[in-house]
Amino acid sequence: MLNDKDMKTDNLKFNSICAREWDHCSLNEPHVLPIHNSSAFVFENIEQGIEIFMKERPGYVYSRYNNPTLASVAGKLAALESIDFEEDAYCILTGSGMGAISTTLYTCLENGSTILTHGDLYGGTTELIQKVLKKFGVNVLLTNFKDKEKTTAILEQNKVDLIYCESPSNPLISCVDLSFIQSLKNAYNCKIAIDNTFASPYLQRPFNFDFDFIIYSTTKFLNGMGNALGGAVICKSQDHFDAIWTTLKLSGAYCSPTDAWHLHNGLKTFPIRMDKHCANAQGLAEFLESHPKVEKVNYPGLESHESHQIAKSQMSAYGGMLSFEVQGGMENALKFMNGVKMATLAPTLGNVDTLLLHPATASHLNIPKEQRESVGIRDGLIRVSVGIEELDDLIKDFDQAIG
Ligand SMILES: Cc1ncc(COP(=O)(O)O)c(C=O)c1O
Repeated sequence: MLNDKDMKTDNLKFNSICAREWDHCSLNEPHVLPIHNSSAFVFENIEQGIEIFMKERPGYVYSRYNNPTLASVAGKLAALESIDFEEDAYCILTGSGMGAISTTLYTCLENGSTILTHGDLYGGTTELIQKVLKKFGVNVLLTNFKDKEKTTAILEQNKVDLIYCESPSNPLISCVDLSFIQSLKNAYNCKIAIDNTFASPYLQRPFNFDFDFIIYSTTKFLNGMGNALGGAVICKSQDHFDAIWTTLKLSGAYCSPTDAWHLHNGLKTFPIRMDKHCANAQGLAEFLESHPKVEKVNYPGLESHESHQIAKSQMSAYGGMLSFEVQGGMENALKFMNGVKMATLAPTLGNVDTLLLHPATASHLNIPKEQRESVGIRDGLIRVSVGIEELDDLIKDFDQAIG
């Protein structure tokens, strides 16, 4: 790096001074993680460059491969995920949750291999599996993991390479029994992966159930502010990490340092936010359950919810997501969406403010109606990402909008 002294001795001309990187003036450490917005990193000499490229010494090459901002944030997420363990975990950040999901699936599956999953996944994941993976010759098997007999029969009859699940699921907030998935891994020697976005590592730690890959859309609760997209894949085997890294490096689904930096800031308040999300969601769910114009409430914290016992056994609290069905189907669901004053209509989740989504006209628009209805995603269903506002204000707003 040139400094004032070099400039003088080299007698650089005006154009050269403009074009050069200049002294970075790093005298001591900044307090807060800097955003390393540099596409490439400098080698002091060719020998050092070769050694870094050959992974014979640590160092950065190119931001699609890794970057100090990404490495710092990934390290923090790995530490959170493996807090119950002696061993280290490995985390890789991606440009979005879909980047994390696709990178994991492209790494674990190939032409002729088989994935076993369930129908009530995030709509984008279902689309990826049905439209892209099938095109590349991956066999897709669907089950309801609650039907243990049927699921076991599928594994008896098919060589399954990867079991992929989401718990709690989007938008029915239904939970998969993670100890059952662990038993299938042991019995049938397949890899297991989970999208843990709704629970987050604060409430559910799938490494306790020997999951190989834990996936996040960090866009959601982990960031919490809704100001950046991001995803993460966390694994506890160096081999899995290396394989994921290779896929990511070549597919280019890398995370921008600025988005990673926003995630880093959001993580500082993450547990405090989660406590409030959970308390508000429980209160709102109980209010909705007692409302005469609400047909059904999906929230695992309610004893009436089909997943209550499973959630109780594997989550430390029930999360900030719920969904409910208003009476009157599509017409009344749309009326409710237009009637709210405080909650916001926005197709995302996990932010500090309460967000609403109507799956039939948004996240599940591209899933055929019969297919989504067969798993319970009906026209009257509304998904709520419960924020950290005052619960009384939320209840008042929902009450007036239901009418
Ligand atoms: C459970 C779940 N996983 C993954 C995703 C995809 O995340 P992203 O939008 O960051 O790609 C979403 C998006 O809503 C989601 O709800």
